[in-house]
Amino acid sequence: MKLIVAVARDWGIGCDGNLLFDLPEDMSFFKKTTINKVVVMGRSTLMSFPGSKPLKDRTNIVLTRNKEFKRDDVIICNSIDDLFEELKKYNIDDIYVIGGGSVYEQLFPYCDEAFITKVDAVINADTYLHNFDEDKDWDLKFASEIHENNGLKFIFSTYVNKNVKNIGSISL
Ligand SMILES: NC(=O)c1ccc[n+]([C@@H]2O[C@H](COP(=O)([O-])OP(=O)(O)OC[C@H]3O[C@@H](n4cnc5c(N)ncnc54)[C@H](OP(=O)(O)O)[C@@H]3O)[C@@H](O)[C@H]2O)c1
Repeated sequence: MKLIVAVARDWGIGCDGNLLFDLPEDMSFFKKTTINKVVVMGRSTLMSFPGSKPLKDRTNIVLTRNKEFKRDDVIICNSIDDLFEELKKYNIDDIYVIGGGSVYEQLFPYCDEAFITKVDAVINADTYLHNFDEDKDWDLKFASEIHENNGLKFIFSTYVNKNVKNIGSISL
């Protein structure tokens, strides 16, 4: 399972339910990476999409504790246990955790790779990602050259997890 995210210098990822950045090149990277794959998100992230619609050409799995929340265009899981049961149906390398903050926080230990777009800016945020640079389990494997969109400089980076937790081993 992989994680994909865009972060500010202070690891901020969102504010008031929205993304912090508008980076078309990063959006293209996100689309190219996740297309025809399985994407796992929290309900707030689904609601932040235009029209609250799921991402096209991807299997959308949404976590919510609200058992009344019904949608026929996404797969709904009511707990991490339910999610891990559902994820057994797919190739583990085709699964991408796409946010937001609470879902990244619960699932990053189960990911073997994280695709982190690092933006050279600090923007007012209320949602943050775990600091992968301070986590000894994670190594930086790749850092791209500097890109620039809308006046913001950023790099694409890949971190690898040396101590991946097995999704079969959870017990809540
Ligand atoms: N920078 C990026 O790449 C990026 C990517 C994605 C999102 N974001 C940003 O992140 C922010 C949203 O993050 P967030 O933490 O507020 O929300 P979130 O993680 O998207 O969704 C939180 C919701 O997910 C459900 N949930 C979480 N854990 C669960 C569990 N164990 N079992 C069942 N349901 C569970 C709950 O839904 P219910 O309340 O329905 O129970 C919870 O309220 C937004 O600002 C968004 O723009 C940034």
